[in-house]
Amino acid sequence: MGVEGSRARHVAIIMDGNGRWAKRHRLPRAAGHRRGVEAVRKLVRSLRGFDLECLTLYAFSSENWKRPVDEVDDLMTLMRRFIRSDLQEFVDNGVRLKIVGDWRALAPDIVAMLDDALERTRHGERTLAVGLNYGAQQEIVRAARAAAAAGPITTETLEAHLDTADLPPLDLMIRTSGEMRLSNFLLWQAAYAELVFVDTLWPDFTADMLAAALDDFERRERRFGGR
Ligand code: FPP
Repeated sequence: MGVEGSRARHVAIIMDGNGRWAKRHRLPRAAGHRRGVEAVRKLVRSLRGFDLECLTLYAFSSENWKRPVDEVDDLMTLMRRFIRSDLQEFVDNGVRLKIVGDWRALAPDIVAMLDDALERTRHGERTLAVGLNYGAQQEIVRAARAAAAAGPITTETLEAHLDTADLPPLDLMIRTSGEMRLSNFLLWQAAYAELVFVDTLWPDFTADMLAAALDDFERRERRFGGR
């Protein structure tokens, strides 16, 4: 029998559409990313009103390095500012920061800021996981190598070496901006996740839209391959 009406513990979001939002408002792309960060900030502030254990956001993919250097710089600057301005609020609101991806390859000052942020937020009861220099295929290769070095590879041993090993199973994946693909985000974890695609561009995404996606999730019957 399918599991209907179960509560989501872990939601992931592919935040897409900053560039198109900027274009629609006749603003530079950087303004779209700035408004994207604003949407992140508001959503994280709203987390207290949700019964979620983990929200995972795709902020920078392994493939995003292919963007023009100015845009990559803008995104990194926004990252630095965001950590500086919002870290204390995370601590105060019980938000535990977690990073997934090959984030230690980022600029040394960002790595140091993140190390500090991880340490200071480690007792938070709700997790905000952020994908930084994240690619699911690369994550699976890293996990497979680590699992093989430790013994036989099974789905369980491989999973135990994924970046998300300490997070609840992924229940729901949302992508904004009308694109319908996973773009190398949490491919293993999405095996049985429900998918919700919304047309809203990321800077316009609100907590009410997350609530609507969760309502949709709760109405779906999940079978996990059974019947
Ligand atoms: C997609 O928009 C968005 C990104 C590539 C980056 C997402 C980043 C943020 C929301 C800001 C950084 C986040 C934090 C946590 C500081 P796009 O540029 O691909 O949009 P387009 O497809 O319309 O061009």
